[in-house]
Amino acid sequence: MQLSLDNIFKNYIQKDDIFQNKELLLTKYRPENLPHREKEIKTLGSILAPSLRGEKPSNVFVYGKTGTGKTAVTQYVCSKLEEVAMNNGHEVRIIYLNCKMRKVADTEYRLLAKLARELGRDVPPTGLPTDQVYEIFFEAVEDKKRMVILILDEIDIMVEKTGDNFLYNLTRMNEDLENSKISIIGISNNLSFKENLDPRVRSSLSEEEMLFSPYNALQLQDILKSRAEKAFKPGVIAEGVIEKCAALAAQEHGDARRALDLLRVAGEMCEREGSKRVEERHVDMAESKIDMDRILEVVRTQPRQSQAVLWSILKLKENGGNEVQTGDIFSVYEKVCRNSGLAPLTQRRVSDLIAELDLLGIINARVISKGRYGRTRTITLGVSEPILEKIKNTLVSEFYFE
Ligand SMILES: Nc1ncnc2c1ncn2[C@@H]1O[C@H](COP(=O)(O)OP(=O)(O)OP(=O)(O)O)[C@@H](O)[C@H]1O
Ligand SMILES: [Mg+2]
Repeated sequence: MQLSLDNIFKNYIQKDDIFQNKELLLTKYRPENLPHREKEIKTLGSILAPSLRGEKPSNVFVYGKTGTGKTAVTQYVCSKLEEVAMNNGHEVRIIYLNCKMRKVADTEYRLLAKLARELGRDVPPTGLPTDQVYEIFFEAVEDKKRMVILILDEIDIMVEKTGDNFLYNLTRMNEDLENSKISIIGISNNLSFKENLDPRVRSSLSEEEMLFSPYNALQLQDILKSRAEKAFKPGVIAEGVIEKCAALAAQEHGDARRALDLLRVAGEMCEREGSKRVEERHVDMAESKIDMDRILEVVRTQPRQSQAVLWSILKLKENGGNEVQTGDIFSVYEKVCRNSGLAPLTQRRVSDLIAELDLLGIINARVISKGRYGRTRTITLGVSEPILEKIKNTLVSEFYFE
């Protein structure tokens, strides 16, 4: 046993590694070179440039689909701005906050506390009235003559949780600030987010707006090449691989993150196999692995009731039910609940959960009319056999369904 493990490790070290620097392909890596975003970089740069003379730049709302470079471009421009400002004797302070982070942006209190802490103030995690935390943050901003640029990434998530009042308060701060000014860059991939904002908030957040459009396949190829160049050793990527990753990601919605993930995982598949060249078939393998991981993650994060419904469907299918219908599911579901200590929901709620699983793409529910007997839904599974096996294993081993 020990010997074979030693061998695995030894092989790994000796293996002619295809990667030169895999970090460069990770989503969190911040590239210096962002092909096909020159226009956006210039536009954002011009909007923010007044801060270099101590004038308040407009607030900006940056939006567009996922993986279109919104975060990458904003961080790139802001870090350059901070650098240039420092060399010119003006202080521009950038605060970046991703509102998706739990325990940071789920209440106005937490958000303000986090912002105040970023500026070096001490705020207890709870206990003060929100007005007072606001005051602490206000004073921290006002402390020095400077421009504070607040990047609120995935801002729609914060607004969904807490409403848009905090945005109103933040944009109004400037009326009382004397030494310093604060500007907000809000970023969102929810294209209808803006419509639901209070009109006053909308107009102050959107003093400027920037829409990032999806990349096409050719643009994705350039992006991949720029990142792959130093990530892989020279010559290890076979012809057609980059093109394939780009084409697959373009089909989805021009998502650079998807394209990069495909290329990185293809490399990992190749490496695990001990091959020396990344081929197109590794991209196919990467695609199924990524899809599988994604679906498993969805299953894992479902509420337990929804998992119980899914488990009931899988049970029925296992027992040869080709034409699984809503009514059958309910009776199995009640048994599953009894076995796992859950209080069964009404049939109506179970129908809702089935509809949700359908939306998630795990099952396909087709409504069929049974004439005067009303309507029912026939369920088929929306995922392939190997993924199904993994889902079952996950529900058994991590969530103890039986
Ligand atoms: N033009 C580009 N050149 C190089 N890499 C890019 C480019 N655009 C995006 N990327 C990379 O693609 C990934 C996704 O980009 P980014 O995180 O900026 O997307 P986003 O628009 O913020 O998406 P989301 O809405 O999901 O947050 C990141 O790893 C980023 O570095
Ligand atoms: Mg982003």
